[in-house]
Amino acid sequence: MKIRILAGIFLVAFIAACTFDPLYDPLDRELERLLPDKGKFELPSASEFSKIPQSEANPISQDKIDLGKLLFFEPAFGVEAMHYQSLQTFSCGSCHVPSAGFRPGRKQGIADGGYGFGSQGESRIKLPIYEENEIDAQGARPLSVLNVAFVTNSMWNGSFGSDHVNIGTEQMWGVFDPGTAINHENLGNLEGQNIEGLKTHRLLYTKELVETYGYKEMFDKAFGDLPESERYNRKTASFAISAYLRSLLTDQAPFQKWIKGDLEAMSEQQKRGAVLFFGKLGCVSCHSEANLGSNTFHALGVKDLFENGGLKTNINDRRNLGRGGFTGREEDYYKFRVPQLYNLGDGGPYFHGASKGSLEEVVDYFNNGVAENGRIPAGQLSPYLQPLGMTDEEKADLVAFLRDGLRDPNLQRYVPTKVLSGLCFPNNDDLSRHDMDCY
Ligand code: HEC
Ligand code: HEC
Repeated sequence: MKIRILAGIFLVAFIAACTFDPLYDPLDRELERLLPDKGKFELPSASEFSKIPQSEANPISQDKIDLGKLLFFEPAFGVEAMHYQSLQTFSCGSCHVPSAGFRPGRKQGIADGGYGFGSQGESRIKLPIYEENEIDAQGARPLSVLNVAFVTNSMWNGSFGSDHVNIGTEQMWGVFDPGTAINHENLGNLEGQNIEGLKTHRLLYTKELVETYGYKEMFDKAFGDLPESERYNRKTASFAISAYLRSLLTDQAPFQKWIKGDLEAMSEQQKRGAVLFFGKLGCVSCHSEANLGSNTFHALGVKDLFENGGLKTNINDRRNLGRGGFTGREEDYYKFRVPQLYNLGDGGPYFHGASKGSLEEVVDYFNNGVAENGRIPAGQLSPYLQPLGMTDEEKADLVAFLRDGLRDPNLQRYVPTKVLSGLCFPNNDDLSRHDMDCY
């Protein structure tokens, strides 16, 4: 009798221990098993400077981040517009819209020469007075700038940055894209890219403009170590913006909380999707770094932007060649960098040519494993492109992980409440002001 009671107590205690054991959920256990080094996927927070990858030429400081946060959205420096009607109406944020996951909220970003905003960029169109070739727009869907600190060689073709995968490509710097000659200066991939980006996007910084719009004190604080003559220009603006971009981390996404031990942060469905992503589907073999992208290049055979309604681009756009368009090496043709995967649920479209409007369509594309772009030679295509045989339930689980498990719900912390000029942002044309209810 005593033994039975004792056994009963043990049994109750055992069941209770299992129930309250945080690892009892078999899905958590499965995911833990698939991610023995899950710390590798943990993103730092914006204030953990020492954990954020950065360039020796531009150590991160709070003063630089604070300045960059305003400059990224400030239309006042848009003084190199092609027509006066568009003066001071655009910013980096015109194409990297925070509420659209720092992507454009539409197939193509348009800054100078664009008109309108909608609710998150989707309604922007070409201003009629601009010729198509006069607008500022590129032949690929803008990449997100979220978690870009983990990108060693930026752009879809990885053309910026002097080290990592660009070691050995030195003779190509400046050849097909003159801007990439800046790699020779070893400033850091983002720092170099953004100096060129400020020119491409028709943004100018001079001492006079910086003073006029109230930014002198912030430049002085962030770059006080430089002589005055070197303090107010595209280089310092790029350094401030790059520090800000490095702080754009999605560390509040449910998957991030789960990594840090909050096992309730993801729903059962999101966990099932994560198990597929890190397990049998092998998505992680390419989406392998902390931002769930990687600095490697693959041809998935998707269509290009000119086929999906992009302006100012065509079949001969070098961007269509992917990595090969930069290196000139045939083996790199049609291969694109693996993009980060956070906050994709904030708005499509997806892939470099914006060929998919929803995450369901992206998952179907991977599941079918058939190239949609007939111009890509079969030998170039990634061997991953094979039917995956997913069930409808598995597809829905994977979408739930991508859309919600990887969504930081609080990106608003990275957006200023106003910019110092007092202009409306990210766009300042009449229609955008009307759309954003900003006057
Ligand atoms: C007209 C739209 C447009 C504007 C304005 C714009 N961008 Fe972009 N951005 C893009 C496109 C398109 C890409 C991808 C181009 C490519 O890879 O071929 C991109 C890529 C980037 C990347 C690379 C991300 C990565 O993962 O490699 C960074 C960083 C970036 N932009 C920062 C900026 C900054 C800073 C500004 C303001 C100076 C800016 N962008 C303004 C369209 C725009
Ligand atoms: C062989 C490497 C590889 C594998 C494996 C892989 N991806 Fe990707 N993924 C890429 C590349 C490269 C791109 C960009 C392709 C392009 O636009 O040309 C991409 C793009 C994406 C995008 C669109 C992101 C955006 O910004 O538009 C999503 C979503 C995505 N992948 C999810 C997945 C999922 C889910 C799996 C597993 C079923 C997976 N990937 C497996 C390489 C890979």
